Amino acid sequence: MACPNQRGGDEPIYTSAEGRPLHDPTTQLVLQGPKVRGGGLALLEDTQLIETLAHFPRERIPERVVHAKAAGAWGEFECTKDITDITSACIFSKVGKKTKALARISTTSGEKGFPDTVRDIRGFALKMFTEEGNYDFVGNDLPVFFIRDPIKFPSLNRSHKRHPQTNVPDASMFWDFHNNNQEVNGFGVHTFKFGKVDDGTSKYVKLHWKPEKIENLKTEEAGKLAGQEPDYHVKDLYNAIENGDYPVWTLNLQIMDPKEAETYRWNIFDDTKIWPHKDCPLIPVGKLTLNKNPENFFQDIEQAAFSPSNMIPGIGPTADLMLQARMFSYPAAARYRVGPNYQQLPCNKAQYVYNPYQRDGPSRYDGNYGADPDYVRSSFRKIKTIKPNDVTHDEWVGKVSNYTSNVEDDDWVQALDMWNLLKGSGDDELFISNLSGHVGKALPEVQKETIRMFAKVHKEIGERLEKALEKASENGPDHVKAPYGLQSAVGGGY
Ligand code: HEM
Repeated sequence: MACPNQRGGDEPIYTSAEGRPLHDPTTQLVLQGPKVRGGGLALLEDTQLIETLAHFPRERIPERVVHAKAAGAWGEFECTKDITDITSACIFSKVGKKTKALARISTTSGEKGFPDTVRDIRGFALKMFTEEGNYDFVGNDLPVFFIRDPIKFPSLNRSHKRHPQTNVPDASMFWDFHNNNQEVNGFGVHTFKFGKVDDGTSKYVKLHWKPEKIENLKTEEAGKLAGQEPDYHVKDLYNAIENGDYPVWTLNLQIMDPKEAETYRWNIFDDTKIWPHKDCPLIPVGKLTLNKNPENFFQDIEQAAFSPSNMIPGIGPTADLMLQARMFSYPAAARYRVGPNYQQLPCNKAQYVYNPYQRDGPSRYDGNYGADPDYVRSSFRKIKTIKPNDVTHDEWVGKVSNYTSNVEDDDWVQALDMWNLLKGSGDDELFISNLSGHVGKALPEVQKETIRMFAKVHKEIGERLEKALEKASENGPDHVKAPYGLQSAVGGGY
């Protein structure tokens, strides 16, 4: 990137943030005493010192409450299959069409400096800068999610983070949450709608991004790297792109006709369920290549704000409750974390925006629509209205009622299918050993509940877990004596 101040040629002249040329960034004004050697008094008129020190503690923005640690890069999405028969989404308008993209790949529970080889969910967020607005994909590396009830999301995450008193990640909290909230894991996250704006037809769709290359780390290796190379994956992505070894993902769709959805074996709006590939095969429709590292991580990646609510005409949400809640939560997080004008930043900015009814706010720098009317239906500047272009929800008419998700027998079926796939492959051994490694750090009574939960999938898992835990207990308990339950008076406790 060109140096912002070329007055000194290749060696720019240092200035204040207001552009005043300055003698040297390391000097300050001091009042020196005639009687004592060294030291001095600082002056309020030393704008250079004050600006430097005042800006420093404001360099941090709040880190993301989840998915704080990440690597990111720029790239492009290419359409490889004609699916104009099901959607008018412009990224798919022509085979070979390319759309600029920004990706951010994260861990979930740890903070910004946390090691990135630890066992955790990986986030996969993508923004595609289309001519009809930004289209964001915000997914995980698991095809299903832990819960289907959005009100539990903050609790889920707190139980995976640090204990409120010891400040250490805590296996008892983790498993206590899951023992008592048994929405069983599987694969495949939300269901979206792909539709045609002209005729109103639509299909239900799940999206899967499949990497061309994939390598997994064994627990011991990951643990060692967490100490030696806490930024192992961040470096890996950065170096691969620098070396021209661009990572590539294929976008695959599972497509279901709304008629089929009415009688399908699974509730298609439950994000804890997959659609088995034998029912809905994966159809490759595009390719993502990451080919450019950020010029500046904070500017391009930290300030990037992704949201499942960013959809383009031809793609729409469904009655998936988790998706509905997320559509509120991400823009709300961005307004808090980056500020109400976050959409103006180059990493978030859509190609064409005319939105004069959202004005002012901190850090507005795009001209703020000058004298354009800031109220709707002004006769001084008319706007062109177009036909509605949403994918509609014509199948939903009903009454409002309370919803609490309960676990039913059916919820264990896909988990059992998964176990049957693992069994005898060697991966079952790995699963039991990884699971017992973590459960073994929880309190004995929590361990018992967790064994009971896994036995509901298959009693063999419960038995094998119990045996592995007996062995793990020979290594002794976790060495933080965390208190649980009500330790303090309600509302304080000092
Ligand atoms: C990040 C909320 C479920 C994947 C976030 C953030 C919030 C949030 C507040 C931080 C955003 C920011 O500061 O910019 C929620 C809520 C959920 C939910 C309320 C459920 C009700 C999910 C699910 C997935 C997911 C089901 C995966 C399918 C991600 C990813 C990020 C993220 C990948 C990081 C995005 C980035 O790189 O900036 N979530 N989330 N979340 N979430 Fe969720």
